[in-house]
Amino acid sequence: MNKNTERPIDVIVAGHICLDLIPTFPGTGVDYQELFSPGKLVKVSELVTSTGGPVSNTGLALKKLGIKVALMGKVGTDFIGDGIISRLREEGLDEGMRIVVGESSSYTIAIAPPGIDRMFLHNPGANDTFGFADVDFDLVEKARVFHLGYPPLMERMYSDDGREMMDIFWKAKELGTTTSLDVALPDPTSPAGKVDWRIILKNVLPWVDIYLPSLEETLYMLDRDAFFKKKEQAGKSDMLDFFTPDEVSALADELLQMGPPIVGLKAGHRGFYLRTSTKEHLEKIGVAKPGNFNTWVERELWSPSFHVEKFAGATGSGDSAIAGFLAAYLRGLSIETTLQYATAVGANNVTAPDALSGIKDWETTTQQIKDGWAHNPLELDQFPGWRLDEDYGIWLGPGDKSK
Ligand SMILES: Nc1ncnc2c1ncn2[C@@H]1O[C@H](COP(=O)(O)OP(=O)(O)OP(=O)(O)O)[C@@H](O)[C@H]1O
Ligand SMILES: [Mg+2]
Repeated sequence: MNKNTERPIDVIVAGHICLDLIPTFPGTGVDYQELFSPGKLVKVSELVTSTGGPVSNTGLALKKLGIKVALMGKVGTDFIGDGIISRLREEGLDEGMRIVVGESSSYTIAIAPPGIDRMFLHNPGANDTFGFADVDFDLVEKARVFHLGYPPLMERMYSDDGREMMDIFWKAKELGTTTSLDVALPDPTSPAGKVDWRIILKNVLPWVDIYLPSLEETLYMLDRDAFFKKKEQAGKSDMLDFFTPDEVSALADELLQMGPPIVGLKAGHRGFYLRTSTKEHLEKIGVAKPGNFNTWVERELWSPSFHVEKFAGATGSGDSAIAGFLAAYLRGLSIETTLQYATAVGANNVTAPDALSGIKDWETTTQQIKDGWAHNPLELDQFPGWRLDEDYGIWLGPGDKSK
């Protein structure tokens, strides 16, 4: 895509992959007690199946957006693994996948009868043993960006203070590839929720160029007590509504100090916050340098989300926003435009219940943005140092050095 680099792959998406199995329920008004009483046979309709996890969600969304991708995940030699591989083969994206004997493939059974909160049964399977040896560095050397998704759902990635994940990123950087990372909210009661994420981030982030977690995950990983306090403060409301811009800036600052020159914090209906570092820092980013370089230097932006007429479900919204971000970044667009694509692809995602069918191709997404797609409200003018960039409808923070 970029003429001055000869790497044939734009993005490798590595990390967590699973098969989602979703029985459909005929009619409404199912009673939970009745549904799960022992000995009962519950009649359901057809099974909807799709690949899930960031390898599939971000990878296939990037492909829809016209980006050359390769995928790296790990499955076993079972029926589930066969399903995952055959689905990816249909897309021509099975080359980098690892198929290993003696491990089970990861699956999620989503039980989602209408009117009842969804319940998931998840087997992490081979994701738990994904490690350095599973990464094909010959492919990494041929790619402009190496993106890893969801280490909190991959035991070997978060074990031993994240040392193996650090090795993977270190090696990718050594090959000159630009590196990118997204995490997931660990279940506080699970082993992944109990490890010290601050130490893991300290070990790994020096080798990460683009870090795009969510706001909640970041608070959890940097200050668990503050996370639970905020959750309590929010009660039944969405905790995202309880972050002040000061708090968001402070979290992003801390992440920047840990290493990545580009830090984005995804904030659901409150949009996407983005902070970048100095010119010197950005120059160390590897082969995929920001195009329109000056627009990326020492910026602090917060874009509201785009308004969607009919919200259908947020499955994969974060993965989609990352696809939008990387697709625009690799096309060498300005930071403001890249942020527009991240929020646009995230918004298109929530118009469909699944992770992929809401995603539009590059041209259609571009047209949606050009047509003056309305934003959801995000009022930051009462906070010191925040001002609106009228051209884009994006807020500029006190750390923004553009004007
Ligand atoms: N309700 C919504 N309406 C419009 N856009 C949305 C909505 N929810 C999310 N988005 C867009 O998608 C982007 C990514 O979503 P989100 O912040 O939920 O990611 P995330 O927390 O990583 O989610 P997850 O990992 O659960 O998919 C947001 O930055 C926003 O621009
Ligand atoms: Mg996420």
